[in-house]
Amino acid sequence: GAPVKVDISKLEPGARVIEQWRGQPVWLIRRTPEQLETLAGQESRLRDPNSENLDQQPEYAKNAHRSIKPEIAVLIGTCTHLGCSPLFRPELEPQPFDAEWKGGFYCPCHNSRFDMAGRVYEGVPAPSNLKVPPYRFEDDKHIVIG
Ligand code: FES
Repeated sequence: GAPVKVDISKLEPGARVIEQWRGQPVWLIRRTPEQLETLAGQESRLRDPNSENLDQQPEYAKNAHRSIKPEIAVLIGTCTHLGCSPLFRPELEPQPFDAEWKGGFYCPCHNSRFDMAGRVYEGVPAPSNLKVPPYRFEDDKHIVIG
């Protein structure tokens, strides 16, 4: 598949756009400072907090926020369990199914939970973090996926 160029200049803080790349949904999210703060202190509850599994992201996204620029998340929107589409649940309020929940992505098929970087929590069926596709910034306004 050809690379896909996305204009992120109108992406508001907290908002997400969904693009298609190689038949897969790619989520682009401009995380707010509050959402980035939720990534700290969760390590002991996450299966792969430091993104050591290099099948799941390029080297440049092997960090806690799993991205090139901390605020911009680029994720393949497919659950790593059986491929359902997780829901975008960035709310900071505790969710009924997990009082410790800080917001992120929730897969309704079998209850898998991911944080705002797509990092999977322990004790859910999904085996790994959401995938980060290869991407680069062409300039401040444009991301090229692929
Ligand atoms: Fe997402 Fe099973 S497909 S938890």
